[in-house]
Formats: sequence, C-alpha cells, structure tokens
Amino acid sequence: MRVAIETVNLSIYYGQNCVIKNVSLKIPEKVVFAIMGPSGCGKSTLLRSFNRLLELNPNARVEGDVRLYGRSVYDMNPIEVRRKIGMVFQHPNPFPHMSIFDNVALGLKLNGLVKSKKELREIVEWALKRAALWDEVKDRLHEPASALSGGQQQRLCIARALAMKPDVLLMDEPTASLDPVATEKIEDLIYELKEEYTIVIVTHSPAQAARVSNYVAFLYLGELVEVGKTERVFEKPESELTERYLTGRVG
Ligand SMILES: Nc1ncnc2c1ncn2[C@@H]1O[C@H](COP(=O)(O)OP(=O)(O)OP(=O)(O)O)[C@@H](O)[C@H]1O
Ligand SMILES: [Mg+2]
Repeated sequence: MRVAIETVNLSIYYGQNCVIKNVSLKIPEKVVFAIMGPSGCGKSTLLRSFNRLLELNPNARVEGDVRLYGRSVYDMNPIEVRRKIGMVFQHPNPFPHMSIFDNVALGLKLNGLVKSKKELREIVEWALKRAALWDEVKDRLHEPASALSGGQQQRLCIARALAMKPDVLLMDEPTASLDPVATEKIEDLIYELKEEYTIVIVTHSPAQAARVSNYVAFLYLGELVEVGKTERVFEKPESELTERYLTGRVG
C-alpha cells in the first residue's frame, strides 16, 4: 500500500496559539480518508497545510513536515503542490458570472496545460462526466455557473479540481450547505472517485465519515486521538474519547 500524504510531527500555530499538536499521519493512496472532530478542533487548518494554502495566512506557522509521495511539499513549488493536491470548499465557489464551461477550462488555460481548443473541450467534457454533472449541463455549457443549483455548483467545483488531474483531492465539509439529496449525490461521487484519486474529506459528522470513508482520523483539540480503518474505529474504538465522540457525548 503506497502512502499518498504523510505528516511528520506536524504542529501548526496561529501566532502563539498551537492548534495542531505534533500530528503524524499516513494517508494511503486511492482511499477516502475522513478527518472528523468537533468544531474548532483543527480539521480545516490541518487540511490546508497539505496543499500549502495555509501559508496564505501570514499569522500561521508550520513545524514538522508534510510529504506527497515521500517528497516534502515545502521543497516543491506551491503552485505545483496545489495542482497535485486539489481542493473543494464548504460553500460551492464557482466564478458565478463565468460560464459552466469556462469554470472548468480556466485553470487549464491559465496553467498552459492544453495545446488546442479541441483538447480543452475534451478535458472539460471528461471532467464534467467524472463529476457526474455532464448529463445535466451538456446543453447549457455557456450559461453562467450561477444558474446551477447548490449541489450542481459543488459538482462543478469538483469538475474544476479534477480537470487539473490532481493526485489528491481535499474536501472541507463539501456537503455542509447542501440538502440530503444533493449530499447523497456528492457522497456517491466521492465513493467512485477513490478508484483513481486519494480523497481527504473533513467532516464534523461521524455518520458521514462512516458512510463515505475507508479510513478515519479523530482529531480533538488539535491532537490526533485515533486513526484506523473506518469499520474498526466505529466498531472498536481504542480510545475512550473516540467512543464518547461517536456516541454523541463529546462535541
Ligand atoms: N485565521 C485564523 N487565525 C487565528 N486562529 C484561527 C484561524 N483559523 C482558525 N483559528 C483557530 O484555530 C483552531 C482550529 O480552527 P479550524 O478552523 O482549523 O477548526 P475546524 O475543526 O475546521 O472547525 P469547524 O468544524 O468549525 O470548521 C480554532 O481554535 C480556531 O479558532
Ligand atoms: Mg473547518
């Protein structure tokens, strides 16, 4: 089993405040890996350190290392890191006035990743199909993204991330603003995507972690309390704190 992302003695500070405490974690490739824990425990902070988005905040400081297939992301160009490790956020954030097509095409154009218009059209179609959105938008590719529903906008953001052919896809509470039907569609999609990608999903819902993930980590007050195969963690948690969280007594 290859490891896609590894953190080594990772600590993260905002000013003097240590919010991720010496976390060492291995995320195998081509699985859905969930990071769960109560509000404020550091899930988003941890996730944003993986693709170096965190350093856009001048107040944040990282100690230790994050590795992508064994290579420190801090030895890589941040633009390259963010291409290899894509991200989908809590609230769908397409460019609302830009067309559906252009939302997916933009990153490819800006990064000079396509040689012709034909190739661009092919990759956009491929990404929209992969994100289970193509059938709903194929006849309206030039309408603005704002014409889509919230769930469709989130799948558009997934298509936009996939178009860059990342190794890893980070998702920070990707269904938090969606209704149950749209949530189920995204969860089904996440489950399928793990055949080709490593997916790291942050959720404050143990039920969602149980539904979509193969591995799960429980984070509490910045500490990694427990990590393992999802079934094992849910059936036989090693830590009492995990058990209390899973039964709704912490959080
Ligand atoms: N930009 C920031 N500046 C200073 N402190 C921050 C910043 N962002 C987060 N924090 C603090 O870091 C800790 C972890 O926050 P983080 O957003 O990573 O938690 P979370 O688990 O994602 O929470 P939620 O489930 O509410 O999204 C919290 O104590 C928070 O107040
Ligand atoms: Mg968060």
